[in-house]
Amino acid sequence: MAECKKFYLTTPIYYVNDVAHIGHAYTTIIADTIARYARLKGMDTFFLTGTDEHGQKIEEAAKKRGKNPQEYADEISNKFKELWDEFEISYDKFIRTTDEEHKRGVQKAFKIMFEKGDIYKGEYEGNYCVSCETFFTETQLIDKEFCPDCGKPTRKLKEESYFFKLSKYEKQLLEWYKEKTPILPKAKANEVIRFVEDGLKDLSITRTSFEWGVKLPKELNDDKHVVYVWLDALLNYITALGYGSDDESLMDRYWPADLHIVGKDILKFHAIYWPAFLMSLGLELPKNIAAHGWWTRDGEKMSKSKGNVINPKEVADAYGLENFRYFMMREVPFGADGDFSERALIDRINNDLANDLGNLLNRIIGMSYKYFDGKIDSSKVKEFYQKELDEVESIIDNLEPYLYEMQLHKYLEELWKVFNIANKAIADYQPWAMIKEGKTDETMALLGLIANVLAKASFKLSPFMPKTMDKIAKSLNYEINTQNYDKFIRNKELLSEFTIQKTEPLFPKIDKPLLKPVEIKKEEGIITIDEFFNVSLKIGTIKVAEEVKKSKKLLRLEVDLGEGRNRQIVAGIKEYYSPESLVGTQVAVVANLKPAKLMGMISEGMLLAAKDENGLHLLRPEAPKKEGTPIK
Ligand code: MSP
Repeated sequence: MAECKKFYLTTPIYYVNDVAHIGHAYTTIIADTIARYARLKGMDTFFLTGTDEHGQKIEEAAKKRGKNPQEYADEISNKFKELWDEFEISYDKFIRTTDEEHKRGVQKAFKIMFEKGDIYKGEYEGNYCVSCETFFTETQLIDKEFCPDCGKPTRKLKEESYFFKLSKYEKQLLEWYKEKTPILPKAKANEVIRFVEDGLKDLSITRTSFEWGVKLPKELNDDKHVVYVWLDALLNYITALGYGSDDESLMDRYWPADLHIVGKDILKFHAIYWPAFLMSLGLELPKNIAAHGWWTRDGEKMSKSKGNVINPKEVADAYGLENFRYFMMREVPFGADGDFSERALIDRINNDLANDLGNLLNRIIGMSYKYFDGKIDSSKVKEFYQKELDEVESIIDNLEPYLYEMQLHKYLEELWKVFNIANKAIADYQPWAMIKEGKTDETMALLGLIANVLAKASFKLSPFMPKTMDKIAKSLNYEINTQNYDKFIRNKELLSEFTIQKTEPLFPKIDKPLLKPVEIKKEEGIITIDEFFNVSLKIGTIKVAEEVKKSKKLLRLEVDLGEGRNRQIVAGIKEYYSPESLVGTQVAVVANLKPAKLMGMISEGMLLAAKDENGLHLLRPEAPKKEGTPIK
């Protein structure tokens, strides 16, 4: 986010195959925060979000529910919109890829790329992951079948297809990365650069085996094709500004995008395909593409089957939307994966928000009513507390680069130092003692110092917690707006004399977790003793253990269960055990599990293990047992 007069930023458009979860909320809230910051600074800001509604995944999701795709997309798209409205996400446009204007824009772009000679017709033969809506060559797959991104089985495709000459743009892309360093964080940029350096293949950009997508432009006279969902989706960033319509004034005003915020899983599409499409269209390239990490819950991947998916609305309802916003942006460095734990959220609320910030406001309200009938006068702050004020100004002045670099957690961490300075000033100068000693001016100036620290910080924090900061502003008698931002932040003015208003505590302390514990699914609920005994648990000895190549998690084991032959068990314990350390040790095995294929290998059982923040440990008998001994 560099200083510029206009600011155009986007979130990914979300697939409508499922309702919003914490990952979607995270991206959207970060974007909202940055949009609010840009507006507060007076920039002409345009913030785009929306839904991605075409493609095989959506068509199949609709079918599964007995709905037609449009009806289904309407329903889920609305849910996203309603949630963002409830979360007061300050988007300027909510685009849907089923919007007529969008479809027309896609057709126009396709036509231009075709006429330029960047699109040709051929046949695609290879594999496709419907879940990621991505094509893969055989060599990219794991065990010739599984998607390298999500691990799900891919499907074989052989169909007529139009191709985009992606390879043509290899050199230009590499130059762009080098000259403009558009990808954040840097570590992620290196991955992209390596990928492109390895060579780009032309990209299949149409499909014929299903119908739910944008048709090709009429001029091509080729009705059986629909546009590949990623080409369709990426173009939303320009069709939202009227690209391909009669009115391109928003295009002129806002393009190129200043910031595309995406998850790390879709960086490749944004940092490789998207700029190549734009080069082909002769349009400017985005200034920055920033990729964030992935959220887990209590150390585990979220999934519907585990029933541990975090519903952002539940968290916001229980803990307050703005507390939740603060937590997400403070807890995890942008780009890194983050873990959602309720404990960590409660600690942030109680420590950072209630203790460091909320208490500060309560304390000056209390003292100013006790000593000065609620009056606060800053006229002598500089006389008595120049040093503290300088420290605060210097922290505030140096915050913005963290935002340019998307280091939101660091921005907040630094900002919190001003509250430490203020709290320390109270502890050091002891206003209750000063007032007794008749040092009225010093005491008043100290309250003035604290009020100004809160005021200045409130501007810098307002994009993160807008409503809460408005409450601080109201109590301290100013408004948070661009004019006042210039006055108090750019020009470093101090508050004029005012009467402080009493407020409710901003951050009531939380003493116990408020979320419902992870719901145990009905079918996984209470079982009878007979049902329990249906599970055959046995002691086994590991005879062979080796790594599964290309897998970060799996080991291939051969386990003796006293059956006269060893069982092959594929276990996700590679991160915790070396193969050598396992051979000859005993384990507890679920012996009557239906065999399953993992990375192309049959696994005939499962090991029992326990995992917490100290790692994963296998369950073993206390003393050696004969192979095959039942566990009862
Ligand atoms: N439709 C495409 C994007 C097209 S943009 C032209 C898509 N949609 S998505 O709904 O699957 O995901 C959207 C975003 O949510 C991605 O940026 C993804 O990283 C993010 N998240 C999905 N699950 C997530 C977590 N568990 N944690 C953090 N973000 C994750 O991809």
